[in-house]
Order: sequence, then structure tokens, then C-alpha cells
Amino acid sequence: MTQAPGLQRRPGDGHEAAGCRRERLVDNQALRTVYEYMTRVDFSRNATVYDRRHGALLGRDDAERLCGAAGLPLAASVLDIGAGTGRVAVPLAERGCAVVAVEPARGMVDELRAKASSDRLAVVIGEGGQLPFRSGTFDAVVIARVLYLASDWRHILREARCVITTDGLLLHEWGNGQPDEPWVQIREQARRLFETAGVHQPFHPGVRSETEVSQELGTLGFVHVSDVLMGPGPQLTLREFLRRLVDGELSYTWDVPKEVQADCLPRLATWCEQGFDLDRPVAIPNQISWTIYRAAHSQP
Ligand SMILES: C[S@@+](CC[C@H](N)C(=O)[O-])C[C@H]1O[C@@H](n2cnc3c(N)ncnc32)[C@H](O)[C@@H]1O
Repeated sequence: MTQAPGLQRRPGDGHEAAGCRRERLVDNQALRTVYEYMTRVDFSRNATVYDRRHGALLGRDDAERLCGAAGLPLAASVLDIGAGTGRVAVPLAERGCAVVAVEPARGMVDELRAKASSDRLAVVIGEGGQLPFRSGTFDAVVIARVLYLASDWRHILREARCVITTDGLLLHEWGNGQPDEPWVQIREQARRLFETAGVHQPFHPGVRSETEVSQELGTLGFVHVSDVLMGPGPQLTLREFLRRLVDGELSYTWDVPKEVQADCLPRLATWCEQGFDLDRPVAIPNQISWTIYRAAHSQP
């Protein structure tokens, strides 16, 4: 792996006109205040099992379809925010893109480094809300399955807008399911039970729906380009999903006190037994889909 390929490339021509002044975003008191209160889920605990559960890499065909739909040139410079173990960053680098992967969890970074063989992939340990890049550095930003995890998700999107070129791309994968999916309903029932037991923000402190992401991107001057459907996620019975939740294999219980879990989880299990056929395999998520946005030349 090399130095971050995009770090000093291309000054941010046109970004000031678009209302994107980097100096306003870094190292001021307001931002320090944001970070005192900002929360995110630390994924290091999941690093060694993440690939087995979610798939190690986006398939070559899927990566090609995604880049094709976005019109991303072969050697495009791409920033992957919250890159995790490199599920997306690695295939994009192998395709020819100059990729910088930003990831705060060291365990995930270690897994990524073990997988990455391309010298077109650089890794930066950091937060999406504090990107150390100049305006207009990248042709595209990838954000996959991240924004529901970070309380400063709006700020991450604003940072993404600043580091892409004036007409750059944002490739977004929501990845957290839709309200009509049974596993999402089970997750939200767990949230309700924990909150009723007095736990403030028991898990996933970030955005709750893909629609909110899309609306926020609209306010930042992004326009919708297209959607790319990748098919259903991995199959699992709801019973196995519930077992993982109860056994702490999912991040939903990590910040919930043991005594609250002991009270709520048996009630969650009963609620699930009454409402669902737990032995039916379901795809999680039902549909893996990406949304491609392009920055308009000026922000509203
Ligand atoms: C569910 S994983 C997704 C990883 C990868 N994008 C993928 O699609 O496989 C979420 C990742 O986002 C990272 N993350 C959480 N909060 C973040 C933040 N504020 N800035 C950057 N990354 C963050 C986590 O550490 C984790 O590796």
C-alpha cells in the first residue's frame, strides 16, 4: 500500500463558489464541541467475523455494474468512508481506481490490510466527520452501511460533499433494511424495549432511514442519478437472527446493561414467537441496493 493517492491532488477549484470552505470545517471550537458529543459504534469487536457474515468482497461483476452505472472512469480517485474490512474498497482498487479507505476501528483496518494487495489502495485511520483532505480531492465518495452508526451522519455527508470535485459522485449503500422486513421489526422492538427500560439510544445512534439520507443530500446540492439493485442479502432464519441478537453477536446489545438485557430479551423472544414464523429463512437485507448521486455545480 502507498501514501494516500488523493491526499494532495487537485486543489478545490470551484468549491468556494459551492459554499464548501474546508478551513471552516476543521479545527474550530464548534467542531471540537461536535466531537465531544458525537457517538459511533466501535466495530473492532466484530472485525474477525464481519467478512463471514456480510461477505468479504463486493463481487467483481457487482463492482463493475456499480461503476458503470455511476460512469466512474477506470482510474478514478475514490474515498471510501467507513471502509470496514475493505468489502468495497478492495474491488474498486483492483478495478483500477485510486482508493483511499478511511476507517476508525483498528480491528477492521487490520482485516482490510490483510486483504489489500493493490498498491492503488491507501488506508487512513480516521472519522468520516473529520476528513483530512483538501476540497475537490476525489472523483467519488463511497459510503456503504455506515450512516446509521454515526450520530454526526449529517456532518459526514457535508464532509463528503467538500472532498469531491464540484460535479463528483456519491455512491451510497444504506444496508440497514426497510421497515417492512421482519428482522428490522425485531430490531426495532428490541430498541423499544430497551428504551422503555430507560436506556437512552441503546444502539445505532445515526440516521434511521434511507429517505432522510436522500433528503439531506438534496439540501447539500446532490442530485439522484440512479439506483443499482444487487439482489438479496445472505439468508438466515429469524430464529438465528434472534439468537445472534440475544448472544451479543450483533451490536444492538453492546451498550445495554446486563440487567436490562436480562429483563428485555426474554420478552423480545416471546414477542417474536407470537408474531413470526421464526424457522423461515429470510434474506437480510431483502434487497441490497446502491443509490448514486452527483453533486450539482452549485449548492442551494
Ligand atoms: C457495517 S460496517 C460497513 C463497512 C463497509 N463500508 C462495508 O460496506 O462493508 C460500518 C463501518 O463504519 C465504520 N464507522 C462507524 N462510524 C464511523 C464514522 N463516524 N466515520 C467513519 N467510519 C465509521 C465502522 O467502524 C465500521 O467499520
